[in-house]
Amino acid sequence: MRNRPELRSATLLAQALGEIDAQTGALVPPLHTATTFARDTDYKPMGGRVYARDEMPSLEPPERLLARLEGAERALLFSSGIAAATAVFQALAPGDHVAVPRVMYYALKNWLHGFARPWGLEIGEFDGTDLATLEAVLRPGKTKIVWIETPANPTWAVTDIAAAASLAHRAGAQLGVDSTCATPIHTRPIEFGADIVMHAATKYLNGHSDVLGGALALARMDALAERIKYVRYAGGAILGPFEGWLLLRGMRTLALRVERASATALAIAERFAGDRRVLSVLYPGLPGDPGHAVARKQMQGGFGGMLSIRVGGGETAAARVTAQVEVFKRATSLGGVESLIEHRRLVEGPSSATPADLLRLSVGIEDPADLIADLDIALG
Ligand SMILES: Cc1ncc(COP(=O)(O)O)c(C=O)c1O
Repeated sequence: MRNRPELRSATLLAQALGEIDAQTGALVPPLHTATTFARDTDYKPMGGRVYARDEMPSLEPPERLLARLEGAERALLFSSGIAAATAVFQALAPGDHVAVPRVMYYALKNWLHGFARPWGLEIGEFDGTDLATLEAVLRPGKTKIVWIETPANPTWAVTDIAAAASLAHRAGAQLGVDSTCATPIHTRPIEFGADIVMHAATKYLNGHSDVLGGALALARMDALAERIKYVRYAGGAILGPFEGWLLLRGMRTLALRVERASATALAIAERFAGDRRVLSVLYPGLPGDPGHAVARKQMQGGFGGMLSIRVGGGETAAARVTAQVEVFKRATSLGGVESLIEHRRLVEGPSSATPADLLRLSVGIEDPADLIADLDIALG
């Protein structure tokens, strides 16, 4: 018999690994809402599970699927993206050092400075586009995590995952990658040496703006990974069963949604780059973008559905554009089937370093012509 080729991501996703419920033959897994599980007369757990804060059956199919997509030993689902990301840092000890990029998802940065630092973590910052600055902040033996986000919110700066992994490993640290915007369709960070891959499952993985969730894909279940799993159990930041069930349903269409959003984002970026009404378009898919070469190396099949447009003329001009759109919805978040526009600096608050004229676009799966016409009219 001929050997079958390894199944590709789109097939694994559409069929949710092809798993069939052993009890009923169902192609869709059942939704288990139980929080506790029985023991036999010898007091052994009858189904191998004890309590839902650690082991929730309805989270296992999406966790298995994500682990397979990312090439990880194990994936864990959390109650939000921020719960997943913070679990990584909570698994460390006071006095440990971490290196994080200057441009990253603002709420995680605020948590690191507002909570983790007072708690005892030491934090060094580097420029994700210039890894000499990472080398300068690393403290061999003391740095435990190097964190990167690529492409990074909200400028879509690209960090070289393989180079960051090799610097982190040389210093004895693990590399964590917020891969929310790249998605497993475009980038598999573990292939480039990452140890931990984080997703705000709220975004592309679920894709329908109706589940708040987070995920970590762990390359190996080593001591740090076990500690992270313990943090989820001890802190209780696990995803609910219905959210896990909905997430798996959303993930079945991930490949199609991401391919469409990325193709449309590229079309929008190409249409408005060089337009005299626009100061600049930030998108790693544009050949002139500073991150393009690295993006080409580590992203396949597209450059993601996120881009930003700097309109020039400060906050007033940006506000004028957001007031004029009709197809794009004025809302925060990203990765859903509907396109969103937001004035990022207002959302990030007073500590924001984001330019006042920057509009962040999350491109959905609508007809590209409608989105382009909407922006064209709004730009005036
Ligand atoms: C890149 C990135 N990482 C993490 C998060 C946090 O995810 P959540 O809102 O599910 O906590 C977000 C949310 O916007 C994000 O955009």
